[in-house]
Amino acid sequence: MKHQLTAHGLTFLKPSHPSVKAIRKAHGDANLHGTKVWDSSFVLMDFLLIEPIPEGRVVFDIGCGWGPTTLFLAKSFQSRVLSIDADASVEPYLQLHCELNGISPLFWQRRLNQLKAADLSMADTLLGGDICFWDSLRDDWKKLIKRAQKAGVRQVLIADPGRQPFHDLTEWAKSKYQAELWEHSITSPIKASKYILEISLNPE
Ligand SMILES: C[S@@+](CC[C@H](N)C(=O)[O-])C[C@H]1O[C@@H](n2cnc3c(N)ncnc32)[C@H](O)[C@@H]1O
Repeated sequence: MKHQLTAHGLTFLKPSHPSVKAIRKAHGDANLHGTKVWDSSFVLMDFLLIEPIPEGRVVFDIGCGWGPTTLFLAKSFQSRVLSIDADASVEPYLQLHCELNGISPLFWQRRLNQLKAADLSMADTLLGGDICFWDSLRDDWKKLIKRAQKAGVRQVLIADPGRQPFHDLTEWAKSKYQAELWEHSITSPIKASKYILEISLNPE
């Protein structure tokens, strides 16, 4: 059990787990920090228990990495999740986690700035765990959020440890939309305190 974590009835593997090591050996490491399940996603899961997404919604998990929020959304809210990541090399790690938890993933290799209005028009919610860590990502999120509003996306949720690009994005979002910043802490399966930016674009 030292190589895995359990939360919300789901299993998440650590980089030290033999199955993860086997994938790393066969396919190599991810290239853009998709190298583990990040803590912000555990905090986002807990937050979503307080502020749930209605069942069956279409959610784009952007910068999905190994898919922690994909798993949670599919299991807890029966969300129809499109797991999106710029880096194709996260896919075998996502597949592994989905197999382990009995979930069928739908993966799409796309960067934030490649998601067009027609793509976004399929989504109710855009969501991401720790995916605003560079200034370029902040700028891509701003453009994406503008396109998302026009495309009819209802809400955006981004979890972050509190890096400057994320706080910049938060200030920008507050000045333009109905947006709130939450600080949320958990003690299980890890002890962590992170930020959640919640933007209502097209409220119901
Ligand atoms: C810090 S990891 C977080 C992964 C996952 N959300 C989690 O919480 O475990 C950031 C993820 O964003 C992806 N990423 C980086 N830049 C991206 C971009 N421009 N568009 C989409 N995904 C991107 C990386 O490949 C990586 O999987």
